[in-house]
Amino acid sequence: MRGVILAGGLGKRLYPLTRVSNKHLLPVYNKPMIYYPIDALVEAGIRDILIVTGGNHAGEFLRLLGNGHQFGLKHLNYTYQEGEGGIAAALLLAEHFADGEKIVVILGDNIIEKDIRKEVTDFKKQPKGAKILIKEVEDPGRFGVVTLRDKKIVSIDEKPKDPKSNYIVTGIYMYDNQVFDIIKELKPSSRNELEITDVNNKYLKTGELTYDIFDGWWSDSGTFDSLLRANNLIAERERNR
Ligand code: DAU
Repeated sequence: MRGVILAGGLGKRLYPLTRVSNKHLLPVYNKPMIYYPIDALVEAGIRDILIVTGGNHAGEFLRLLGNGHQFGLKHLNYTYQEGEGGIAAALLLAEHFADGEKIVVILGDNIIEKDIRKEVTDFKKQPKGAKILIKEVEDPGRFGVVTLRDKKIVSIDEKPKDPKSNYIVTGIYMYDNQVFDIIKELKPSSRNELEITDVNNKYLKTGELTYDIFDGWWSDSGTFDSLLRANNLIAERERNR
């Protein structure tokens, strides 16, 4: 299975930190943010990785990461997203790289405590469709919110005003090759982005969406508070090593 890290976008919620830098190059305790999703894929046994970047300082990813030798990789692939058309628009740039195979996608600002090896192995065995990893949080309204009934997902709503549950979709997604055709049919949302939640809802509708509840802490790092939280979680982990 191949891995895709989405590290495009302009990171406007972190202005002025990201006005002349790229969000994914900001520090999370002792490493640049982008190191964490790469580590997550490598720890799950994925060696074929594409980084989709964009916005400011995209060239610095090459200077920082090169061919990924510091992660034990022989090679890293890169592509560039023009503008910020949304997570699904960034993912569409991976179609050529995926080359018909299943993919594991991780958002470049997601930081996780435990490895996702088991979930990836399970998805390899899943005949088709998609898998998402969900997590219970205190502030669901700024995420894709999952409503469960009898342990089945009944709906996913992107940033709802009145969240129906505390379960949210983390930025770790696994897809079969249908994902690219699904993205090509999407219409931009009210914030003018191709939404990954629309992709997941499409798989939900056809009964091909599975999920796991992520075990261990998880954080995004795209707002001041979540960036601080991610720093503290990593600092704590490093101190306890
Ligand atoms: O972190 C999980 C959440 O991520 C999910 O619960 C939401 O359903 C999903 O929409 C997303 O929400 P955010 O509003 O936090 O996404 P954000 O715009 O901050 O983008 C997250 C990452 O996706 C970002 O670090 C890089 C990548 N991205 C984003 C955009 C808008 C791209 O590569 N290209 C883009 O155009």
